[in-house]
Amino acid sequence: MSEIPELGLGTWQNTDREECVNSVKTALNIGYRHIDTAQVYGNEEEVGEGLEKAEVDREDYFLASKVWIDQLDPENVKASTEKSLEKLGVDFIDLMYIHWPAGDYSPQETLKAFKELIHSRDIRSIGVSNFTPEQLEKAMEIAPRHIISNQVEMHPLLQQEELLEKCREHGITLVAYSPLARGEVFNVPELKDIAEKHGVSEAQISLAWLMQKEGVVAIPKASSEKHIRDNYQSLELELDQEDIEKIESIDREERMVDPEFAPW
Ligand SMILES: NC(=O)c1ccc[n+]([C@@H]2O[C@H](COP(=O)([O-])OP(=O)(O)OC[C@H]3O[C@@H](n4cnc5c(N)ncnc54)[C@H](OP(=O)(O)O)[C@@H]3O)[C@@H](O)[C@H]2O)c1
Repeated sequence: MSEIPELGLGTWQNTDREECVNSVKTALNIGYRHIDTAQVYGNEEEVGEGLEKAEVDREDYFLASKVWIDQLDPENVKASTEKSLEKLGVDFIDLMYIHWPAGDYSPQETLKAFKELIHSRDIRSIGVSNFTPEQLEKAMEIAPRHIISNQVEMHPLLQQEELLEKCREHGITLVAYSPLARGEVFNVPELKDIAEKHGVSEAQISLAWLMQKEGVVAIPKASSEKHIRDNYQSLELELDQEDIEKIESIDREERMVDPEFAPW
């Protein structure tokens, strides 16, 4: 699968074995076609078991993982990706990200090693994550044909206009992580009003707002079947201009993910 499906399942902190296996299996069986994990989440085996148990062929879903910051020198890029493939139980990963531009990240060397993973057919495309517009610019000069996305935090409380513009300029997708602001969307009065108007959850409003934007994909994490189904319903929801303007008027800039090694 070469295009990134617009709704994916996030799996950060989903480390309970049974819960993680079941969430991946349930999501795929319901119709999700994009699963997002990372080496550092410590759940690639559980995600792999969920993929195996779902009734969906390998070519029919899109799998993304991420190389952690202490594995970004060329030798470790290769070795750690091989481990990821083994844990996930697959022959290839559709999209492998550089998780953060930090630690052992060196634009030329790391990206060269990622390009080699494409040649050896371990991965099908490269993603960057948590890159600023300037870092994205530099990476795009080095691997213009292979980088297909920048995965960053985005939701109604952090609207990312500048980064989205930069992604569009380069023809790459912005994959929105923490698209529910890690639960904070349930405490925003504007979102509550719009949710009541449509008779849906605030989660659906946030996801529909993201996915209605050209070039944006959302990857909400949910562990229960109830939440997985609720989020899937957002694909059916159409927000009108009034809803969109109300969301865009929310004047808050709140990051939920901000480690000390972040580049901003
Ligand atoms: N690249 C990066 O550096 C980076 C950083 C952060 C996240 N990510 C990726 O993005 C994914 C999503 O972000 P996130 O996990 O930070 O947060 P999120 O998706 O914004 O929010 C997840 C939280 O919302 C709850 N939830 C989900 N659907 C719900 C619903 N319909 N109704 C009520 N509550 C609901 C979940 O609860 P339950 O689990 O109980 O269902 C969980 O507590 C991650 O899992 C990960 O794959 C990447």
